[in-house]
Parts: sequence; C-alpha cells; structure tokens
Amino acid sequence: MTLTASEKTKIDEVLKVTPGRPLQGVVPLHEAGGLPGDKSLSHRAALFAALADGESRIDNFQVSGVTRAMLRALSALGVDWELQGTSLRVSGTGLTGLREPDQPIDCGNSATTIRLLAGAVAAAGVAVVLDGSAGLRSRPMGRIIAPLRQMGVTITAAQDDTAPLILTARPAGQRLQGLNYNLPVASAQVKSCLLLAGLSAATPSLLVEPGPSRDHTERMLAAMGVQIESRPVDNLSNASLTRLTPPAAPLLPLQMTLPGDISAAAFLIVAAAITPGSQITIQCVGLNPTRTGLIEALQAMGADIRVTPTDTQAGEPVGDLEIRYAPLHGGAISGPLVVRMIDEFPAFAIAAAYAQGETIVSDAQELRYKESDRISDLCAELRKLGVKIEEKPDGFMLQGGQVQGGVVDPHGDHRLAMSLAVAGLAAQGPVRVVRAGILRESFPSFLSVMDRLGVTLEANF
Ligand code: S3P
Repeated sequence: MTLTASEKTKIDEVLKVTPGRPLQGVVPLHEAGGLPGDKSLSHRAALFAALADGESRIDNFQVSGVTRAMLRALSALGVDWELQGTSLRVSGTGLTGLREPDQPIDCGNSATTIRLLAGAVAAAGVAVVLDGSAGLRSRPMGRIIAPLRQMGVTITAAQDDTAPLILTARPAGQRLQGLNYNLPVASAQVKSCLLLAGLSAATPSLLVEPGPSRDHTERMLAAMGVQIESRPVDNLSNASLTRLTPPAAPLLPLQMTLPGDISAAAFLIVAAAITPGSQITIQCVGLNPTRTGLIEALQAMGADIRVTPTDTQAGEPVGDLEIRYAPLHGGAISGPLVVRMIDEFPAFAIAAAYAQGETIVSDAQELRYKESDRISDLCAELRKLGVKIEEKPDGFMLQGGQVQGGVVDPHGDHRLAMSLAVAGLAAQGPVRVVRAGILRESFPSFLSVMDRLGVTLEANF
C-alpha cells in the first residue's frame, strides 16, 4: 500500500499509557479541557439550523474532525456559519435554499455527515456528489439509497452501494412522496436521513424501526415546529414507529446549549471504573435514555456509577455522573440494550477485560459497519494485550481479569484509539497506541481531560 504524506504522519502519532495512577477530580462542561458537546447533536444542530429560516445559535458545539466535515459541507452548499470557540451561529437558507456545489462534497470519515446530508440534499432537490475518506467509502449506503429511491430521489452510488453518492436535481414542481417503510436495522442515521427527506415530501412519512435508536432528530425537529410523533408499535416487540408530517411553515431557528457527549464520557467512565483508587465526577452529560445503555451495563457488572439528573438542555435530559472504582464481574449484553450503547462497545470491552469472569456480547452485528469492524478489529487488538477474547458473528465472548502491556493499532477508529489507551491505565505494563491522532475525530481534548484527572498520557502529537 502506498501512503500519502498525511497518512505517514498519522502512523507516527503514538500515545503511550503508563499504568498506575488513579483518576480523580471533576470534568466540567464549559471550561477548557471539559467534556465536548454531543457529536450527534452537534451534527444535527448545524445541519437543521441550515434548513431553518433565520439565524440559529448553538452553544457547546462539538468542534472536532467529524463536525468540521459537516461545517465544510454546509459551506459548500452555500450556508453561512461562524464558529467562535464552541459557539456556532448559522444563517439558515430554508428547506429548499441549499445551493448546488461546484465540486463533490468531502464528508471525511463521517457517516453521520454523509447520511444526514443525503436526506437534507434530497429535501432541497439539488444536484450533489457526496464522498469521503477511504474508510467512509467502505461504509454501507444501500440502507439509505433504497428508501430514498422509493421517495422519488434520483441517487446512484459506487459498486456495492457505497460512496460516492450522486444525487440528481429534482425538476421544478416535482415533489417527493412520503415514505411508509420498515427499517431492516435500528439506525438513527438512516431514520434521520429519511425524516429529513420527508420534510419536503407531499405526504406524511411513517417509519418503523426494529428497536428505538437515538431520537435526537425527532426532539430537535419538534423544537423547530415540525409535527413528529414516535411510539412503540405494540406491547409484544421492541419496534418503534415515527410519523412525520411535512411542515407547512418554515423551520424555526435553534437557540440551544448542547449537553456533553455521553459517548465521549464513556472513555472516562470506563477509565475510572477499572483503575483502583479512582473517583471522578462528569458534569452536564446528555442522558437521553436511547444513549445510556453503557451505564446500565456497567452497573449490572458491579460498577459504582451514580447518576444525578440536573436539567433539560436542547430538549434532552442532562445530569452529573459520579464514578468510583469498584471490582467488576462479567456480564451479558444483547437485545435492545445493544442499540442503546451502540457506540460504546470499544470502551465496554475494556471494562469487560478487567472484569472477573465471562462477558458475552450478542445481537451486535451492526458493530461490523462502524468506523472499523468493531468486532474483529477490537478482538485482534485486545488479543495483543493478552485478553482472552473470541469473535462471534454478532459479538464476542471474553474471559476478563488481566490485561498486559503491548503495542496496538486503532484501525482508523477514534473510539478504538481512546478505548485502547484506557486499557493501559491498569495494565501490567505500558500500552502504546499507534496512529492515535485519529482520536481528534470526536474528542480532541481527550488528553487534556485525562491530564486534568491526574493521568498524563504521553503523546507525540
Ligand atoms: C449516530 C447513529 C449511530 C452511531 C453514530 C452516530 C447518529 O449510527 O453509531 O456514531 O448521530 O445518528 P447508526 O445509525 O448507523 O446506528
């Protein structure tokens, strides 16, 4: 494989973790070095604000690799925005005001950016090519292409339904049709893409998911004046139904402060849960029940995590988390809990590696389609640290108790990079994570937050 200059630099970005120090202290939201704003909410707030009429202001916006990809895409679509620190102002163009870009839009590594943009661009009816990194080009897009076509969107893709995605302009006067669709997998990105396209359809859309995925889009669109309701399909299954009525009036602009990112907090939660002597508090964390599966999974394995709800921010429940070290035992994760902690399995696997006994994860085949194959790549890297872990088609089985030092590679996955770093905190020797700079994709202040908690990770980047 030939490497570009920037890829070579990334290989040299090494993070060294020397075990032995507990985490202690408080992680605030707003101060420098605090927890970043939620990634899913940041993507949505920036994009939805662009579709509103008027100026939006979003505070505690997550400034990271993936959200910058979204902001760059908005610029390419003719949207004016301004970022000062973590405060974002967006001048909305309205639902159909996006401009046709003169070049393909580079969505970087961000699947949320490409899938949500596809829905927004379909609503606007402009011609756009959506592309991204080699990693993004390997992510499945058939899951949005087929239902978008059912709505009347003209969209083509590369072989195997992958990016680049080519959306064709919709002739003047032609409307999309509302969609009546069963999602084959619970996916907030797919649901959000289709709801966004549904905003400019002629008729309502009705989506059924096999289990409720994160509902940030529904909450935010409701705050913008859209009529949107979700409810369980019945008492027998976990299926969830969402109905959206295309708005007759323009979308209202947003004024909100985003909660801290529970998926970023996950690394700190696990770090404190596995490192003897640790006691930390993380403030203003988003506690949307569709995202809190990790807390429940760890509590069931003996973790000492106290949750104090404090507030509602941006239509989302928010609270403080207090985590103290406590010995962990193995556990079993399956069914609807998987969706509620879908981004947390890399961090969860580290907790399981330190837990006494067996941990089994099943029903989690979706993990294979994330920034890396989070089943096989995670298993391969944990084995390098002496963890006894067996790969299953839909998860893994792990015998926890001991973690050795070693050199590991995150496979271009920001969550693997931070999880493997955390694995070193209580290991029997130092852990070196190569290509660790990828963590900037979602948590650029990870090292300074760890520093603030008394743990200095040696990084050459
Ligand atoms: C996200 C949804 C999830 C998650 C991703 C962010 C979102 O993906 O893994 O990190 O913001 O909607 P899927 O919808 O593919 O499950």
